[in-house]
Amino acid sequence: MAVRHSGTWHLANSGTCIPALGTFRHLAHSGTGTFRHLAHSGTWHIPALGSSTWQLDIPDAATMETKRMTDQQETMKAVVFTEYGSPDVLQLKDIDKPVVKDNEVLVRIRATSANAGDWHIMRGDPYLVRMLFGMLKPWKPTVLGNDFAGQVEAVGKNVSHFRPGDMVFGSALTGAFAEYISVSEDTPAPKPANMRFEQAAAIPCAAITALQAVRNAGRLERGQKVLINGAAGGVGTFAVQIAKSFGAEVTGVCSTRNVETVRSIGADHVIDYTREDFTLSGQRYDLIIDIVGNHSFSEFRRVLATKGTYVPVGGPGGGFLGSFADSLKAYALSHFMSQRVALLMATPNREDLVYLKGLFEAGKVTPVIDRQYTLIEAPEAIRYLEEGHARGKVVITV
Ligand SMILES: NC(=O)c1ccc[n+]([C@@H]2O[C@H](COP(=O)([O-])OP(=O)(O)OC[C@H]3O[C@@H](n4cnc5c(N)ncnc54)[C@H](OP(=O)(O)O)[C@@H]3O)[C@@H](O)[C@H]2O)c1
Repeated sequence: MAVRHSGTWHLANSGTCIPALGTFRHLAHSGTGTFRHLAHSGTWHIPALGSSTWQLDIPDAATMETKRMTDQQETMKAVVFTEYGSPDVLQLKDIDKPVVKDNEVLVRIRATSANAGDWHIMRGDPYLVRMLFGMLKPWKPTVLGNDFAGQVEAVGKNVSHFRPGDMVFGSALTGAFAEYISVSEDTPAPKPANMRFEQAAAIPCAAITALQAVRNAGRLERGQKVLINGAAGGVGTFAVQIAKSFGAEVTGVCSTRNVETVRSIGADHVIDYTREDFTLSGQRYDLIIDIVGNHSFSEFRRVLATKGTYVPVGGPGGGFLGSFADSLKAYALSHFMSQRVALLMATPNREDLVYLKGLFEAGKVTPVIDRQYTLIEAPEAIRYLEEGHARGKVVITV
C-alpha cells in the first residue's frame, strides 16, 4: 500500500545516507530514515549501497493515522494558575491535552472570551468561589476560561450528537483558555456557519445570563418596560437585544462613551449615568435588571412598578458572598412587599445556546465585540475586563 507521510521511520538495517531512490528522497543512517514519500513495506535492494538488502517496515495507513494522531500533540498550550491573585498569576504553559471520555467531545478551540466569572475564579473572590476550587489556593493547577468556540476533533464512543469536524460553541466552568477542551456532549451546540468563531465565543456565558435574567427570572412580557443597568457590558449588550426580541420597551444605562452603542443595539432610551441618576427619574419600570450593583435596593424600588420585578445579576466582589449578600437581603425584604426580587444563578445549557443561535440567525442578537487578544495575552484581557468598562465582549483567539 502506498502511503504519503513525512516523518521518521524505523529501518531494520542500517547504512549510510543515500540519494533519492524510487519513492525515497532520503534515508538517514543509524536505523532510522526520514522520508518524504513512503512506499510499501518489504525488502528493498538499494543499488547505491552495492549488494545490501534493506528491510523497510512501513505501517499500513490505519496504523499510521493512529500514530500520527498520537504523535501529533500530546500536550497543548493553556492559561493556567496555581494560586489566587491578580492576572499576574496566569501563565501560558504546555500541559497534557485532555483525553476524551466516552460521553465527551474533544474540541479544538479557535476562540474563547473573558467573563467576570473568570476573574472571580482567578482571584478566589468572593470566598464562596474557594469552596469549589480550594480555600488557600486552587487544589490543582486550573485552566481559566469559560466560553469556547471551535471544531470537534474527536468524540467518545457513546457520543451521538457530534462528529469530528463539527463546528460548536459552548460554556464550561473552566478550561477554555486553551487549545483543547473535552466536554460532555450535552455542553456545546452547533455553531452556525455564518457565525464567526469570535462571535460564537462571545455568546455562551454572557448571553445565557442575559437570557435567563430577562426570560426566567424577569418573566418579561411584550410591551413591558425594562431598565438594564450596565447595558454596555458583556451581559448588558445581550440583555438589551434579547429584551427587544421579547417586544419590551428597553432603557439602557451606561456612560457617555457608550450611549451610541447601546442605542445602536436597539435600546429605546439610553440614560447616561454620568449626567443623570435614573433612580431619581420618576419613571417606573416593570423589570429592572441590575448588572452593576451600584445602587441600594431601596433606590431601585423608587423606580420599580408596584408589581415590578428586580433581578440583581452582578456587582462588586468581596467578602464571602460578594454582591450576592445584598441580593439575598433584597430577596428576604421582598417577601414584605408587592414587588418581586428574583435571584439569578445562570446555568449554561444547550437548549438556551440553541435558542440564542436562533436569535442570531434571525438577526435579533449580534455579539458586540470590544477587544480581541491572543492566548498569550490572556492576562491583559482579564486586566482590561476587571477595569469594568468593557464595551460588549472581550474575545481571545486561540
Ligand atoms: N448572576 C449570574 O449568574 C451572573 C452570570 C454572569 C455574570 N454575572 C455578573 O454580572 C456582572 C457583569 O458582567 P459583565 O460580563 O456584563 O461585565 P462587564 O462586561 O465587565 O461590564 C462592564 C460594564 O459595566 C458598565 N458600568 C460600569 N459602571 C457602571 C455604572 N455605574 N452604571 C451603569 N453601567 C456601568 C460599563 O459601562 P460604562 O463603560 O459605560 O461605564 C461596562 O460596559 C459581574 O458582576 C458578573 O459577576 C452574574
